[in-house]
Amino acid sequence: MSWSDSEIAAMRKTLLDWYDREGRRLPWRVRPEDRAAGVRPNPYAIWLSEIMLQQTTVAHGTSYWLKFLSLYPTVEDLAAASLDDVLTHWAGLGYYARARNLHKCAKIVAEGGGEFPQTKAELIKLPGIGDYTASTIAAICFDEPTTIVDGNVERVIARLHRVHEPLPKSKKVLKRLAAVLSDPNRPGDYGQALMDLGATICTPRSPSCLLCVWKDYCQAYSQGDVERYPIKAPKKALPERYGHAWVIVNQHQVWLRRRPEAGLLGGMMEVPMTAWADEWPNRDAPVEADWRVMAAPVRHVFTHFALNLNVHVAEYEAEIPGEGKWVDIAHLSDEALPSLIKKVLDRAELGRT
Ligand code: ADE
Repeated sequence: MSWSDSEIAAMRKTLLDWYDREGRRLPWRVRPEDRAAGVRPNPYAIWLSEIMLQQTTVAHGTSYWLKFLSLYPTVEDLAAASLDDVLTHWAGLGYYARARNLHKCAKIVAEGGGEFPQTKAELIKLPGIGDYTASTIAAICFDEPTTIVDGNVERVIARLHRVHEPLPKSKKVLKRLAAVLSDPNRPGDYGQALMDLGATICTPRSPSCLLCVWKDYCQAYSQGDVERYPIKAPKKALPERYGHAWVIVNQHQVWLRRRPEAGLLGGMMEVPMTAWADEWPNRDAPVEADWRVMAAPVRHVFTHFALNLNVHVAEYEAEIPGEGKWVDIAHLSDEALPSLIKKVLDRAELGRT
């Protein structure tokens, strides 16, 4: 489907008018009316929001953004924090390599004088900033006419054009189709408008087509098969992995150790565990104790595999071999605990030992 220049201008206008009226109020966003009055977005705040929202919903990410902005009001504050503190406050967002890159990036920006670069080409050189984040920051903060494409935008564009090629193969085509529509005059607002449209109207299931300002342009709407798009290649089943987790309790304390910096959940805290294997491994406990196993294993889905962990609990007071520390159960929230380990500790029912 191709549109004339005047149709494209009309599409941009209807979308931006909708955004000006109905766009989501988000704490890092400068509303169009404030923008018109001269308020500029804060690149640090925008960068932080975009890194966080790459892996979670606005609803879940907003509380983390508020926490980080109050703990670290400037990029210099974030750069001066310890990595351990950053990981602790990031805990629950997942993808901890992102938190490490976030900290690395803050240090580079702070050491360079505290200002983020102002172009996509320079932004993309920073750790943790890929094509999407660089495009988004450059458009929102510096009015660079980039094309912003996230999962929401892909869905809107796939429906608008009834793109038959399945994702992820269709990513290039979708980006090209999205670029034709991008508004060079208000690139940041346009990109955010499209993301909002995808998140609130053009939703994966039960989209609110009657409320959509683009329904008259939408091929899938006119054909009545909106929910078929975007077409996705069938997912391969995730491989299953298995292991044992050992929750060692001493009075009101539990034994934790730090994972190696490199690799999955790098630098985060954990209870001792066996290796994660393709079949249930031997129950090689770190100490001899009166272990009891909790009835149901913990299951946690990572990007590339699903992990099943049997949770074993024992009281033990003597020295534990290897590096680690006793942590007061009441102070577990001060530790950089990934969701997996929080699930393990929940399953161990520590309050009841
Ligand atoms: N998702 C990620 N970043 C966003 C933004 N700036 N606006 C709307 N949705 C988003």
